[in-house]
Amino acid sequence: MPASRAIARAKLNLYLHVVGRRDDGYHRLDSLVAFAAIGDVVAVEPAPAFELAIDGPFAADLTGENLIARAARALDARAPARVRLTKMLPVASGVGGGSSDAATTLILLDRLWGLGHEAARLARIGLTLGADVPVCLHGRPAFMGGIGDEIAPAPPLPAAGLVLVNPRIPCPTPAVFRRRQGPFGAAARFTEAPRDAAGLARLLAARGNDLTLAAIAEVPAIAEILAAIEASPGCLLARLSGSGATCFGLYADESRAAEAAAWITDRGPAWWVAPSRLDGGE
Ligand code: C5P
Repeated sequence: MPASRAIARAKLNLYLHVVGRRDDGYHRLDSLVAFAAIGDVVAVEPAPAFELAIDGPFAADLTGENLIARAARALDARAPARVRLTKMLPVASGVGGGSSDAATTLILLDRLWGLGHEAARLARIGLTLGADVPVCLHGRPAFMGGIGDEIAPAPPLPAAGLVLVNPRIPCPTPAVFRRRQGPFGAAARFTEAPRDAAGLARLLAARGNDLTLAAIAEVPAIAEILAAIEASPGCLLARLSGSGATCFGLYADESRAAEAAAWITDRGPAWWVAPSRLDGGE
C-alpha cells in the first residue's frame, strides 16, 4: 500500500482580536483564519510499529515530543504506522505548523486505520492537542471563537497572493499572551464576501492583530519585517499571524506576490521569505 500524503497548510490569522480571558488563563479570541497553499508535508503508511521520521529544512528546529506522535496516540494509543513529516514551515511561528501537522495526521491516520470518526469527534480529539487544531481540521476559511474551539464558516475569500516572512527566531505563544496588555478588543466578524484581494485588504485594514505589540516586544525583528512587507511593491496589507513571528503580506495575485518576495529578500537576506497564495477561496 503506497503512502498517503497531504500538505499540512500554513494557517494565517487574517485578523485576530483578543476579546477576553478565561479563569484558566486561556484567552478568548475572535479571528478570521485562512490557509496558504504552502505547508509541511505529512505522509503515512502501514508499518509493524509506530515510527515518526522528520526531514525538511526546519526539521532540526523540532525539539521535544512532536505533536504528530501525540495526535497518533490520542487517536489510537496502540495502532502502528510509519509517519513522515517534511518540515517546510518555520517552527513556533504563528502559522500553526504543529497544529496543522497534528490535524493532517489525525485525518490521514483516521483513514489509514479505517476508524471513520466524524469531524466533530476529530475536532474534540484535536482540541486536546492544541487550541488551533480544530480550525486546521476544518481546513477552510473560518471565524474562530472561544479559545479556538468555536468555528463558524466565513464568507468565501477571493483569490489573492501572499508572502510569508519569518525572522528565523522562534516566538513562543505562551510568552506573547503573557506580555499582552491593554483592554480587550471586540469581535469584528463580517458577512460580505470581498470581490477581490483589494476588497479583502480593506475589510482587514479595519481590523488588526491584538498580539502585535506583545510579539514585537518578544522578537523585535517583527517590526522590521512588517515595515519591509508594507513597503514592498503591490502590498495591500501587512500583518502578523497568530502570536508570531511570521508576518504576511497580501497582494492582488500570485505573480505580484512573487515580485514582492524577491524585493523583501533583498532587504532581509537572513529572513525566511515564501511567496504563496490564499487557498480555499473562490
Ligand atoms: O494550545 P496552544 O498550544 O495553541 O497554546 C499555547 C499557549 O498559548 C497556552 O498554554 C496559553 O498560554 C496560550 N493561549 C492562550 N489563549 C489561547 C490560545 C493559547 O492564552 N486561545
